[in-house]
Amino acid sequence: MIDMSTDSSSAQRPGLAGATAYTSLSHVDGQAGELVIRGFAVEELATKASYEEAAYLLWNDRLPDAAQLAGFKRSLVSERRLPAATLALLQAAARQSVAPMDALRMAAGTLILRNEDEPASANTAQRDALSVVARFPVIVAAYWRLLNGLEPIAPRADLDHAANTLYMLTGQEPSGARVRALETYLVALIDHALNASTFTARTIISTQSDLISAVTGAVGALKGPLHGGAPGPALQTVLDIGSIANAEPYLRSKLERGERLMGFGHRDYKVRDPRTYVLSFAARQIYEAEGRLDIYQLAIEVEHIAVRLLAQYKPGRALYANVEYYAGLLLHGVGLPADLFTPTFAIARTAGWVAHSLEQQAANRLMQPQSIYTGPLNRAWIPLHARIAPSSAGAILPHLGE
Ligand code: ACO
Repeated sequence: MIDMSTDSSSAQRPGLAGATAYTSLSHVDGQAGELVIRGFAVEELATKASYEEAAYLLWNDRLPDAAQLAGFKRSLVSERRLPAATLALLQAAARQSVAPMDALRMAAGTLILRNEDEPASANTAQRDALSVVARFPVIVAAYWRLLNGLEPIAPRADLDHAANTLYMLTGQEPSGARVRALETYLVALIDHALNASTFTARTIISTQSDLISAVTGAVGALKGPLHGGAPGPALQTVLDIGSIANAEPYLRSKLERGERLMGFGHRDYKVRDPRTYVLSFAARQIYEAEGRLDIYQLAIEVEHIAVRLLAQYKPGRALYANVEYYAGLLLHGVGLPADLFTPTFAIARTAGWVAHSLEQQAANRLMQPQSIYTGPLNRAWIPLHARIAPSSAGAILPHLGE
């Protein structure tokens, strides 16, 4: 259950900072730098659990035994096939070179469709929940191939979630090191309290809307560079810097221009994001396995320099590396192109969005924060012929109609 209680001081802070929420799914302690998912520290869960185990844990509040895990995996595998209409939509989007996150958002709306030979489900919520988790990787991989003029590759029932995701992109069975690295990423990002996309999902479902609408809205929220869109630019910064000697002048000039350093800063964490430890360790392993440790070492140095400069240019703001800094590095090491970083984040977060939506549904109250009006009052109506060219100050869409 969520109670968006705000006291008068928090209500005056933009971005709803200070609004409180209740959830038993995950807990963030921004001062201590801790993330707990269903009672497990993220460091433990991400390094030990498969994605299926973590999703089962989120939805059932307990780890599955062997039979339960096998059954859960079978249910997910049976939901992987995409209906013909979803594929047709992706083909049309690829012909117009739509960005992968936009294609994913459009395709997410088709998740209510069944395959023609599939019987109607007695439990729509359960079927939709499984379908969201199972089909997101299939949509992302199929779309990526279509965008690159290639035929989509059918999922393989004998491969688990992470391995199958990589397989569908290339048609090659991925190495164990790549699978484990992606799995660590997917579990580390599976849930994170009331982040912007999860809040979006909960808001949508709180109107007694449906799970597919909630998840589709969440994809739209995740896309922005202040949320899930940061890992591509964060990695690009490291690649553009190219050498340790170039790091300080490059970052300094960005900060001098008033630009934000992508992959740094967080609304909750005032210390290093705990997920950066997990992802940085996994990234080191994959770069070592692939013989490209130089990129990893450069990223570590760039982080140190960025944190020092942020403290100098933004004193007192406590800006440290966030999950996206190492997410980009890790996914690059796994062989994913930067355009797939945010869609892969969406794949990871599906189980969390579903869990939050169902938790909201189970003890629902309409989400509706208060607003404080800051506009004018008692305006006198001016007849059309008497209006002189207005100033555009205060306009949200200036020049509209001019
Ligand atoms: N680089 C430079 N300055 C920054 C950065 C940054 N990465 N992040 C925050 N600041 C500065 C702001 O300019 C602001 O300075 P000011 O007080 O002089 O105006 C101050 O720190 C506070 O910034 P806010 O935007 O108010 O902080 P908020 O808590 O709302 O934002 C956010 C958090 C959006 C993540 C921010 O730190 C940011 O833009 N980071 C870069 C984008 C990024 O990495 N996003 C991924 C976040 S993780 C995730 O969503 C999974």
